[in-house]
Parts: sequence; structure tokens; C-alpha cells
Amino acid sequence: MSDTYTQIVNAPVLSNLASSLGLPQPVELDRFGPGQPVIKGPVLTSGAPEGRLRPAISAILDSIGAERAGLEGPAKALVFDATGIADSTQLVELQRFFYPAVPRLSRSGRAIVLGSPPRSTGGVRAHTAQRALEGFVRSLGKEIGGRGSTAQLVQVEPGAEGELESTLRYLLSPRSAFVSGQVIRVGVPVTSRPDINWDLPLAGLTALVTGASRGIGESIAATLARDGATVVGLDIPAAGAQLDEVTSRIGGRSLALDITSPEAPDAIARDLGDGIDVIVHNAGVTLDRTIAKMPEDRWSKLMEINLSSEERINDAILAADLLSQNGRIVCVSSMSGIAGNSGQTNYAASKAGVIGMVEAMAPDLAHRGATINAVAPGFIETQMTAAMPFGPREVGRRLNSLSQGGRPVDVAETIAWFASPASTGVNGNVVRVCGQNLLGA
Ligand SMILES: NC(=O)c1ccc[n+]([C@@H]2O[C@H](COP(=O)([O-])OP(=O)(O)OC[C@H]3O[C@@H](n4cnc5c(N)ncnc54)[C@H](O)[C@@H]3O)[C@@H](O)[C@H]2O)c1
Repeated sequence: MSDTYTQIVNAPVLSNLASSLGLPQPVELDRFGPGQPVIKGPVLTSGAPEGRLRPAISAILDSIGAERAGLEGPAKALVFDATGIADSTQLVELQRFFYPAVPRLSRSGRAIVLGSPPRSTGGVRAHTAQRALEGFVRSLGKEIGGRGSTAQLVQVEPGAEGELESTLRYLLSPRSAFVSGQVIRVGVPVTSRPDINWDLPLAGLTALVTGASRGIGESIAATLARDGATVVGLDIPAAGAQLDEVTSRIGGRSLALDITSPEAPDAIARDLGDGIDVIVHNAGVTLDRTIAKMPEDRWSKLMEINLSSEERINDAILAADLLSQNGRIVCVSSMSGIAGNSGQTNYAASKAGVIGMVEAMAPDLAHRGATINAVAPGFIETQMTAAMPFGPREVGRRLNSLSQGGRPVDVAETIAWFASPASTGVNGNVVRVCGQNLLGA
């Protein structure tokens, strides 16, 4: 979808005027393309004394062939191991590294702070200091977002040092273009990580994507297929022709059914009789109305599509033991489910429920070596947002640190990272794909 404002304020003649008027000038974000390296530019790394992640970070940077930044000159990413910070007085290590480093950060750059989950530290002072990292990263994201750069905090559980690679690759690369200000937990899985082909991480795996005929679902299906998966695209029978067009383009197959029909869970389980590696619950609708004007059928129709049918499908697949070892369930929540939104009590309840489902199921799935996570998209440029009135659409687009809307592929890339067999340590996370939207942050 076209973002006319961004084109105007970045046009050669008008860009100086926009700058002198102090208008936001969103930069074109780097996005991943086939054959590209993980990161195009040098990486500057450092850490507080006593940090435990330096060897893991160094091995990952070697594995992706990343150039290291020297004492001067631009850096495409800043990576700081803060696991050694055990007291608030040591937080100054952040200032010592980022003060000279941030001016060197290139456009669409990456700032990544690695810490420990506060509860894992076992002490009041260390818990306090590790929790402080969150405020630092969220503020840094707001300071560097104007140049299309992002900041994240990754909390690595002690013992999970070897599980970091898929997450660091994703965060360093342009695949995480529209994700900023997030806190991601990497834990210790019960199963060991399989060998992985980083170019085709999903090769030999099957992925079910609901709502795959258009919008974000179409992009998820295409992205998982790009990563090697055989995709079963599901959508309502009325969207069958469009669905067939998508699945035939990506070498997948179609499953035309309404997920709310009473037969759907069993029909899906029968169709996936050979087992399933990745399930993406993407199908969803909005049926907006304030609660005082919300008839019961409108409430229930939405809740059935966005939440209850997902629960029933999960139950049917798990009861039939179809989810493979190291399997993945990925849900699509929404920023509305975190921040709430007037006129969306039904939608926000359903999307907050999705987050609850992730929280509730994560421990059990971990026992099977599987994971469940959710993305919470903010303003994504789709047919849905293109149909919004001009005013709310412009506000929705600009109200984030990157001053622009995201693309369906930004959601899809985040799902592909969750779906990777190398992401077994990433379980029970909700990652917002919203450019660090100011609402509910
Ligand atoms: N577009 C955004 O900005 C945005 C923001 C936050 C969250 N989301 C979420 O992302 C997901 C995809 O959104 P989108 O913008 O691509 O929407 P979309 O309307 O373009 O696509 C939704 C798809 O789900 C399918 N679907 C609806 N009901 C179904 C049913 N009963 N059974 C099977 N399939 C069904 C539709 O036919 C459609 O293909 C949704 O869950 C939505 O809530 C979108």
C-alpha cells in the first residue's frame, strides 16, 4: 500500500522543508531479500565485566560471517552483553558503551542488549539491575527509530547460551525491520537443538497457515515456503479460488473450510494425519462496535473465529498427537489485545485471550520439545488498513518510533523465526511487530 506522506517528505526538494518544519521523515527500512547476508555492515560488540555471553555472541557472528567494527567508523549493529551487570551502580556500563557508539550506528541499524531474566538472578540487586535494562532499551528504540533503527533486549536464561543463534540472526537482520523495543526471552529447552540449514530452516517440514488466501496470511504462507516448508493453506470456501492461487504459486496445497464449523477440528486433524510441524493461527476478523451497541451474535461470531476455534483446533491436534517433536504453534494476536481500543472490546478480548493461551500452553508444550508464541502486529499496510479513513490511518501509521506502517512480510518474518527448528528456546513469547507503537508499549 502506498504511503504518500513518506514519499512527499523524502522527495528531493521537499525533504529540506520537511526537516526545517520538524515533520517526521520516515526512512525506507532495509528488508531481507533472497541471497542477502544476515547483516550488511560491521558489528560493534562489547559487554559489562563478568558477562557470560561473549563466547556465544562471538561464535554466532563468526557463523554469519559478520565483519567486526573497528575503533572508528560506522557500525550496522551494536551488541552489548549486559549479563554481568549485577547491581544498579554497574548500569553505567550501558552509558560507557552506547554514548560513543550510537552516533556511529547506520540507518536501519540494530542495537541489541543481552541480559538475564531478572528472576533467574537470585538476588534483589541483580534482579533490579537486570529489570532496568528494559527501560534503557525501550528509550533507546525511541531515540534511534527516526533513522529506521531498532533496539531490543534479549533475556537469556543461564544455560541457554547455546540457544541464542536463531534469535540473534533474526534481530541482526532486516527480517526484524518493524520490530523495536521488545523484550525476548530465550530459555533452556528440554530437547537439544537439531542441526539446521540456515538457508532453508524449514526444509522437509509441513506448516498449516489459516487465513492464507490474502493479507498477512498470504505473506506468512509465502515466507514459510521460501524457508523450505510445504504449506497447507487454509481459508473459508468462499476464498477458495484465491487460496488455490496462493498455494499453487508456493508449491503448497489448499484446505478450504471454515474454522468455526463444528466439524473443522476433526477435519483438520484428519487432513494432517501424517503429522504437522508448524501451525500458524492467523485467520481473524474485526467486527467493531462499542460494547453498548454490541449485539451478542456479533460478539460471539468474532470470538469463535479469533479465539475459540483456535483452542479447539489445538485440542484436536494435540489429542491426536499430531504435533511433531520440536513442533511449533504460532498465534497472531494484536496490539489491541495489549493496549485495548475503543470500539474493539470483542476484538481486544479475543487477542488478549490469544496471549493467555500462549502463556497457558507454553509449559506443557515445552515438555514435548515444542513451543507456542505469538506476534502482536500494530499498524500493518493491508487491504484492511487501506480502507480506514485518512485521519485515523495517518495517526495509526505515524504513532510509532519508525513513523510508518509495517508490511505483512514483517509479521511473516517474525513468525518464520518462531517457526524455525532452531528456536526451541523461544517459548511463551509475545513479540509486537509494531515499530514500537506508542500505545500499550
Ligand atoms: N492488518 C493489521 O494491521 C493487523 C493488525 C493486528 C493484527 N492483525 C491480525 O492479523 C491477522 C490477519 O489479518 P489481515 O489484515 O491479513 O486480515 P485479512 O482480512 O486480510 O485476512 C484474514 C483472513 O482470514 C480468513 N478467515 C476469516 N474468517 C475465517 C474462518 N472462519 N475460517 C477460515 N478463515 C477465515 C479470511 O478469509 C482472510 O483470508 C488477523 O488475525 C488480524 O486480526 C492484523
